[in-house]
Amino acid sequence: MEKINAVISGIGGYVPEDILTNEDISQLVDTSDEWIRTRVGIEERRILRGEGKGTSYMGIRAVQQLLEKTGVNPEEIEVVLCSSTTPDFGFPTTASVIAYNTGCVNAMTFDLQGACSGFLYGLETAANYIRSGRYKKIVLVSGDKMTSITDYTDRNTCPLFGDGCGAVLLEPTTEPVGIIDTILKTDGSGLSHLIMKGGGSAYPSSHETVDNHMHYVYQDGKYVFKHAVSYMAAVSLEIVEKNGLKKEDLDWVVPHQANLRIIDAVANRLGIADKVMINIQKYGNTSAGTIPLCLWEYEDQLKKGDDIILTAFGAGFTWGAVYLKWGYDGKKA
Ligand code: UT7
Repeated sequence: MEKINAVISGIGGYVPEDILTNEDISQLVDTSDEWIRTRVGIEERRILRGEGKGTSYMGIRAVQQLLEKTGVNPEEIEVVLCSSTTPDFGFPTTASVIAYNTGCVNAMTFDLQGACSGFLYGLETAANYIRSGRYKKIVLVSGDKMTSITDYTDRNTCPLFGDGCGAVLLEPTTEPVGIIDTILKTDGSGLSHLIMKGGGSAYPSSHETVDNHMHYVYQDGKYVFKHAVSYMAAVSLEIVEKNGLKKEDLDWVVPHQANLRIIDAVANRLGIADKVMINIQKYGNTSAGTIPLCLWEYEDQLKKGDDIILTAFGAGFTWGAVYLKWGYDGKKA
C-alpha cells in the first residue's frame, strides 16, 4: 500500500476591516509611529470591534472562504480543529461554534492551544489524523483576537498585537508533496516571561485579578526576543539539515510575525533573506494567525512542489519548525 501523507489543499483567511494605526496607539500610550516601525516593524494592525464578536467570527469567515475556494461541501468535513489562545468562551470550544456556523455538521470538533506556535501544533495534529488513514478532510482554523487580551495602558505590549484568522484544508495524498517533517519543542521555564495569568483555574476571575490587569498579555520583551531568535533559527536549521536540504533548495521561509527584527535575524542565520514571507507591517502579531495569514496572502506566488519552512515561537515557551512541499499551483479564487 502506498504511504499516505497529508497535504494542504486550500487556504482561506480573514482580517477585520477596522484598522488601528500607530498614530491611534500613540494617542493611548507614550509611544510613537517611529518607535513602533523601527523597533517592531508594524505600521498598522486590524481590530475586531463589536460586542459579542470573538475569534469564531473571524474563523467562520476564513472557513467560508476556504470552502468556497476549494468547492468542498461542508458536510464532507470530518474534523474542525481550532488553534487559538483567545477562544470565544471558557467553554464550549470555538471549533464547535465555527463548525455550526459553516455547515460542517458531520465534523468532530476540538480546540488546541499552542500560543504563537499554535498553527504548527495544529498542523502536526491534523496531519497525523490524515496519515492514520481514518480521516480525509480536515479543516484547521488558526488565529486569535489578540486585542481582547491586550492592555491599552501598557506601551510595552499594546503596539504589538492584532486580530486575524487563517484556515487550511488538509487532505490525503500519495504524491511527493505535503507535510514532510515537523519538529516541535517546549521549554516550560518560559512560563513567567510570557503569560496571561488571570481567568484560568490558577487565578479565576475576580475583582482582584481585574484590578491587577491579570487578564492581559504580560511579556518580558527582551527575554522573549532573545529566545525567539535563537530557538527559531536553531530549529529551522535542524529541520533543514535533518532533511538534507540546502538553502538554495528553499523556496520560502514563513516565520511567525512578532517583530521584524526577529524575522530578519532568523532569515539571516538561515542565509535566505530574500525568500521570507512578511506581512507584520499590516497585521502585527495575530499569534496563531500569523503563519496561515502569510500563506493566504502569498498563495498566488506558490507553486506545486515548493519547499517551504514554517517556524514559530511563543508562550510556554513552545516553538518549532515544519518542512512542507506545497501541494498546488496557488491562485486566489
Ligand atoms: O509572539 C510571541 C513572541 N513574542 C515576541 O517574539 C516578542 C519579542 N520581543 C520584542 O519584540 C521586543 O522585545 C519588544 C518589541 C517587545 C520591545 O523592543 P525592545 O527593543 O526589546 O525594547 P525594550 O523592551 O528593551 O525597551 C527599550 C526601551 C525602553 O526604554 P529605556 O528603559 O531604554 O529608557 C522601553 O521603556 O524602549 C522603551 N519602550 C518604548 N518606547 C516607546 C518600550 N516600549 C515602548 C514603546 N514606545 N511602545
